[in-house]
Amino acid sequence: NVTEEELLADPVEKIVSAKGTRHPSIPLPAALFGAVRGNSEGLDLQDAMTLEDTASAIAARADIGPAPADSTVAEVQTAIAAADAAFEGWSRAPVETRAAALNRLADLLEEHRIDLMALAVHEAGKTIGDAIGEVREAADFCRYYANQARAAFAPIELPGPTGESNTMRLEGRGVFACIAPWNFPLAIFLGQITAALVAGNSVVAKPAPQTPRIALRAVALAHEAGIPKDVLKLVVGGADVGNALTGDPRVMGVAFTGSTGTAKAIARSLVADDARPIVPLIAETGGLNAMIVDSTALPEQVIADVVTSAFRSAGQRCSALRLLVVQEDVLDRTLEMLKGAMDTLVVGDPADPRTDVGPVIDDAAYRKLEDYRLSVADRWLHTVAVPEGRFVAPTVIRLDCIEDMTKEWFGPILHVTTWKTGTLDETIARINRSGYGLTMGLHSRIASRCERTVAAARVGNLYVNRSMIGAIVGSQPFGGEGLSGTGPKAGGPHYLPRFAVERTVSIDT
Ligand code: SER
Repeated sequence: NVTEEELLADPVEKIVSAKGTRHPSIPLPAALFGAVRGNSEGLDLQDAMTLEDTASAIAARADIGPAPADSTVAEVQTAIAAADAAFEGWSRAPVETRAAALNRLADLLEEHRIDLMALAVHEAGKTIGDAIGEVREAADFCRYYANQARAAFAPIELPGPTGESNTMRLEGRGVFACIAPWNFPLAIFLGQITAALVAGNSVVAKPAPQTPRIALRAVALAHEAGIPKDVLKLVVGGADVGNALTGDPRVMGVAFTGSTGTAKAIARSLVADDARPIVPLIAETGGLNAMIVDSTALPEQVIADVVTSAFRSAGQRCSALRLLVVQEDVLDRTLEMLKGAMDTLVVGDPADPRTDVGPVIDDAAYRKLEDYRLSVADRWLHTVAVPEGRFVAPTVIRLDCIEDMTKEWFGPILHVTTWKTGTLDETIARINRSGYGLTMGLHSRIASRCERTVAAARVGNLYVNRSMIGAIVGSQPFGGEGLSGTGPKAGGPHYLPRFAVERTVSIDT
């Protein structure tokens, strides 16, 4: 084992000789990119189907039909009224009834996985690997929250010092507005809804305007699973529909995933009316997510994890790596290998199982990303050729310092800067100062560096020596702090109580 002092004296050579390894050949073999191609969290969903069978079934479902019409403000109000009226009955139903409905929904999601994956591919531009992960995560949320609810919603007996009986219990708040993003149009959409429902709320859900079809299908399956139609209502549309929803005083809580700006606008709208109850906002927003790499890190692993974290899902994950901060000594080697790896990426048709990087979500996103990318062409360190269409080329951009990273570019654009030996603590502090706090990565084989990063990183999800995306429900509860969100962790043990009120009853006998 190498001590930090030894490394400071001779950063690169020391670790190489200590471990008896040499840097691998450059560029990396394409075979390494199993991590990008098809190593989804949910390949088990395919059962006996091969990836090719799955791809043909998805291709056969390319006709996804027209999008549903946007809801009117009057329709939003009607949906809220219906959900409000249905709340009492649902909230008083035994938690087991609500949990059982979620488990049935998980079964239905798996049964209808090909249809859902096809919608994820054809409506949201997801690659097949990502579409598999999407269905897997949605089903995982259902089963995880069903399990969590049984324990969380059981009444708790408390001591009665003067002989009284004291109990405490959690109950639903009322109508919850669930506002989902297009980048996880099934998993986050249903994650918010199922948490709110199992906690005893009724729900009015609004998917992103880009992905209403898959939401419509998911809500139909939820109703089929036994969630009453008025307990879960769907409204469709953009900001007007969202404003009508969150601005309604009958809405007793909001779960939102999207931009920091919209989260703040929702927060303001919730307190605008003095007569309205104070209601919670559970928000998960963006990040300026950095990964620190030191000279002891395993280069092949670093490159695989950087490519996965920055470019998979075309960089359209809030968790995605935006800023790679490489120890100066290994910058050249890292870039050389990264270029080799990027040249093996297949960019194109998301329905083709060989594709690593699909299109970005819509023309507006394409224009915004492309305008930015072209505006900094003098700072490109590498880019790759892409086909015609809404494909943004995976690109690496050189920054002079951490502070130059000021904006989240929601696409396959990676920024790179360096840190100097002996400045790890300062480097972490500088990353923290962005004010965002969603994900951070560290690649190092020095235990003390890992410990210092764990202690100092102000992020919701820190990933050490692995990729920074694809948090697993129940194992890696996900969500950020600061400008990245209000904190509750989806897929974690403390999530459901955030959707509930706590009530204490004391009875003297
Ligand atoms: N949960 C997703 C991930 O971890 C991001 O929303 O990549």
